[in-house]
Amino acid sequence: METSRIAAVLDLGNHVYDTTVKPYTGWSLTAIAAHLDSGSPVCLTALAGERLAGFVLGSMSFEQRGDWGHMEWIAVDPIHQGQGVAGRLVEACCEKLAEAGASSVVTDVAAENTASAKLMGRHGFTEGKAVSFYVREVEHPQG
Ligand SMILES: CC(C)(COP(=O)(O)OP(=O)(O)OC[C@H]1O[C@@H](n2cnc3c(N)ncnc32)[C@H](O)[C@@H]1OP(=O)(O)O)[C@@H](O)C(=O)NCCC(=O)NCCS
Repeated sequence: METSRIAAVLDLGNHVYDTTVKPYTGWSLTAIAAHLDSGSPVCLTALAGERLAGFVLGSMSFEQRGDWGHMEWIAVDPIHQGQGVAGRLVEACCEKLAEAGASSVVTDVAAENTASAKLMGRHGFTEGKAVSFYVREVEHPQG
């Protein structure tokens, strides 16, 4: 991924990620930079001519596992969805993470994101330990 594409990647993520789903609120310029600045970045773009059609952001290590690749963010412009763009990005990302030494590649998918769950399932991912995101709303007394 060329650094000149960062603005387009940020815009596409802002357009397609539902930031009302709490685990997605981390989408930001910093989220992109974290992968680009990592020791083994795997940040790839798919182009339609000169225009950004999709991207995937991954890097080596996940939490304490230095041998796990982390494929964290993937998005495809709605006008290019359903054409296998994400599938190709997933395959390329996993291949590059394997070259960087990954023994596994991990990714997380929100329960309601069936498009993403199907995508991962079609590309060899199986569901690992499920972690639910529990939220307690805080009530503030009036007055
Ligand atoms: C999830 C997401 C990345 C999938 O992108 P995509 O490019 O549409 O995915 P693919 O095209 O590879 O696969 C989607 C469908 O297209 C089909 N497809 C694949 N190649 C195709 C082709 N050449 N022609 C027609 N359809 C094709 C797939 O079989 C699949 O169909 P199915 O779901 O009915 O089985 C996209 O929906 C997206 O950006 N969502 C918002 C962001 C998001 O939720 N990201 C994941 C969390 S970080």
